[in-house]
Amino acid sequence: MSSLDEIKSRIDIVDLISESVQLRRTGKNYTGFCPFHSNTRTPAFVVFPETGTWRCFGQCNDGGDIFGFVMKKEGWDFSEALRRLAERAGVVLRPPTPAEQAAAEEHEGLRAMLEEAATYFHHNLVNTAEGKSALEYLRQKRGLTGKTIEAFGLGYALNSWEALTNHFMSKGYKQDDLVACGLVSEREGEGGLGDGGVYDRFRNRIMFPIRDDRGRMAGFGARCLDPEDMPKFLNSPQTPIFDKGGLLYGLDRARKSIRSNDRALIVEGYLDVIALHQAGYNNAVSPMGTALTETQLRLLKRFTRRIVLALDADAAGDKATLRGLQIARQALERETDVVFDARGLLGYEARLNADIRVTTLPEGKDPDDVVNENPQEWEQILESAKPIVEHVMRTLVASRDLEDPKAKSEIAAQVLPLIEDIPDPVERETYRQRLARVLRVDERVLLGMRARKGTRRSFRLRVSGDDRTESQPTAQVLSQAAENEPLEMHCLGILLRQPELLYRVDRALQEYQLGRLSTADLRSSDKQIILELIAASLRQDHAEPVYYVLNSLSLPLMELADRLLKGTENLDPNEERVLEDLIRTVLELRRRNLRQNIDHLRFLMEEAQQSGETSLGEYLQTMNQYSEARIRLDKAMGKFTDHVV
Ligand code: UTP
Ligand code: MN
Repeated sequence: MSSLDEIKSRIDIVDLISESVQLRRTGKNYTGFCPFHSNTRTPAFVVFPETGTWRCFGQCNDGGDIFGFVMKKEGWDFSEALRRLAERAGVVLRPPTPAEQAAAEEHEGLRAMLEEAATYFHHNLVNTAEGKSALEYLRQKRGLTGKTIEAFGLGYALNSWEALTNHFMSKGYKQDDLVACGLVSEREGEGGLGDGGVYDRFRNRIMFPIRDDRGRMAGFGARCLDPEDMPKFLNSPQTPIFDKGGLLYGLDRARKSIRSNDRALIVEGYLDVIALHQAGYNNAVSPMGTALTETQLRLLKRFTRRIVLALDADAAGDKATLRGLQIARQALERETDVVFDARGLLGYEARLNADIRVTTLPEGKDPDDVVNENPQEWEQILESAKPIVEHVMRTLVASRDLEDPKAKSEIAAQVLPLIEDIPDPVERETYRQRLARVLRVDERVLLGMRARKGTRRSFRLRVSGDDRTESQPTAQVLSQAAENEPLEMHCLGILLRQPELLYRVDRALQEYQLGRLSTADLRSSDKQIILELIAASLRQDHAEPVYYVLNSLSLPLMELADRLLKGTENLDPNEERVLEDLIRTVLELRRRNLRQNIDHLRFLMEEAQQSGETSLGEYLQTMNQYSEARIRLDKAMGKFTDHVV
């Protein structure tokens, strides 16, 4: 991935723009008032999360990607925008500094040491007498096969305070490094300083190597064998490479299946992940005893947007009441808890545009038990996964007496804020009706409760009826937008190789009363910059145009230039034919852009009309421009094809 793509993939365009524009979700996209032109009453500014782009369908009639947005908003040039967004995304653009180089090497060192530890623990488990009872436990009591134990690299930490330390020291490892990677702990010396030597952190435990999504070692989870040992699970401490909130156990083995099934399954325990994989559910992952974080969901979202949470019955019940929200469960042996936080999850779901569902396990059972005892039951449990709000509603209703008016009122008070958080008006209304039906109250009572509480502060058009579903064109348009990429690449690739063709294509376009090829034809800033450089290269005569462009590029843009050049290696030697190819590509690109813009605008207008909005002026103006452009374009395309073929 190029660093530009990396930055784009790490920065959520909706998050970024939300910092300065109030957005509301309409179907897959987000709408708001354009920050670039004032005096407007029309929410003509649209953000498209799927393509990572935005566009104003009002006065400015301009659009772009995250770079273009901050350039326009902050008045930065491209390199400034690049520098800032790279920093925000944590992407290093320049060659790494010596300090960063050193850190990267240190991380490599830690990983290598953990890798060796995993091998050592695994050897203890499968090849030593001391590991025998642990192995027995895994095979007999937990039903794991030898193959599974191998695949997950399970291990055993000897019941000793120094076995691991000695093993590694004898191989020449340094004590400090063992501490740094969390395998050994420092004994408190006199005066509380760490000069009292070290001891093995993990003793008499089953070891679960924890890897990042790319399979690189990050740390260990460790389960006690002796029920007297506390805590039941002990994890690696926080180290530079072990960040519990940013990793998901099993993801390295699950990612492929998550992608191909288009669904991820989140369970609560290491052994649940392993048992599920053994039973063929290879899309299971788990957090490591901590609350599910947005980072973890973002990580999953690289593979799917459909996520199912399988929760313990007790946990689901407790937490559904939302009491568990702030208070971590008191249970001593837990490091932290609150894996399920309905309101938080709903927020993630909306922000990430994910589809999160919840399913509950039978009382007192883990996925591990269920799938081993009765795989069919597990299927049913998966199938019964419900959207978050519905899950909360059901759990609350199941645990209360609905004859009691007080109980009804409390349930309503707990569920309504969740319903109010749902960005989609249709969904919101459906839930409100469902809640009214379940509680057997008139829906207007619920609306009244909401109004009195005055919890709705976010900007929302007063949509009478709120009865719009996402219109078909939008979905279509999105897939088309992705298809524009090859066209854009093709145009630019040709121009990069033969910059002078820019004049010729412009002349041809003008002949058909069409505007010159411009940055508005391209959707991403990197491509826009290259086009501008190509134009600039023709206005100077110090260097060959191609070299002028290549020399002016910053590192991340070089990668794009490389791809452009690669993509046009086999151009027709006949320049006239290349020109025809170029013109045809530009026209096709314009046609698609225009069609997408028209579809989007139509969608916005429909929406505005339904909400009783009267000032459609800005939209109409833009629509007129589009229509005129389309007529000219159609003519040109007709003429052009006549002319050429
Ligand atoms: P559970 O107590 O449900 O254990 O904790 P489990 O995974 O089902 O294990 P078995 O079936 O009893 O062997 C679920 C998860 O919570 C985290 C661990 O990640 C564990 O897998 N946890 C639990 C901790 O981090 N610390 C603890 O002390 C307990
Ligand atoms: Mn269990």
